Amino acid sequence: MEFFIDTAIVDEIREIGEWGVLAGVTTNPSLIVASGRDFREVVLEIAGMVGGAISAEVTALDAEGMIKEGREVAAWNEHVVVKLPLTPAGLQACKALTADGIRTNVTLCFSVPQALLAARAGATYISPFAGRVDDIGWDGIQLIREIKEAYVLGGIETKVLAASIRHPMHVQQAALAGADVATIPYKVFKQMVSHPLTDKGLDGFMKDWAKRGEAKQ
Ligand code: E4P
Repeated sequence: MEFFIDTAIVDEIREIGEWGVLAGVTTNPSLIVASGRDFREVVLEIAGMVGGAISAEVTALDAEGMIKEGREVAAWNEHVVVKLPLTPAGLQACKALTADGIRTNVTLCFSVPQALLAARAGATYISPFAGRVDDIGWDGIQLIREIKEAYVLGGIETKVLAASIRHPMHVQQAALAGADVATIPYKVFKQMVSHPLTDKGLDGFMKDWAKRGEAKQ
């Protein structure tokens, strides 16, 4: 499973990017607003930092507007993947942009039937929102598992991008459910890398290492 980071804050992308684990970045309108930056400017800066897929979401709600906007954002940089909502207009735009050779990420997916529609419209990525499914008392990881199973059975190549990831256990469960990619917030990356036994073990090694001079004397 590959890792994307789910943020539009460049300092967060730079820090996690330096770990050498990032294959891409996802943004959405809320994340762009939270960054306080201009949409195009921040997407281009991210594209210069990360060599992988950068999802940039359209804000038009009609198919014609989405297609126009999608073509514009895709022209900004070769790494841009156009993010489209899972609506009838989003499916129509997905089909048209796919025909243009533009990669798409169909977002706000909450069911297997929705995921099957997105795949048939040519989506490069489908984004089921695990955390938001959990929030309403359903099982977000089960949704990811079932989408992957349906895609494998149908010979569908659309990649399952586990989104709305809330904690490290979600990442582990998404990987075991067969997700191709997980898009992970900065805070969760920081939680993933930490373990108290790693800190304790390293502290012990360093204390022992500092004693080596004493042993020689
Ligand atoms: C997906 O690409 C979205 O940006 C994101 O994962 C949504 O997560 P949230 O439910 O934490 O807002």
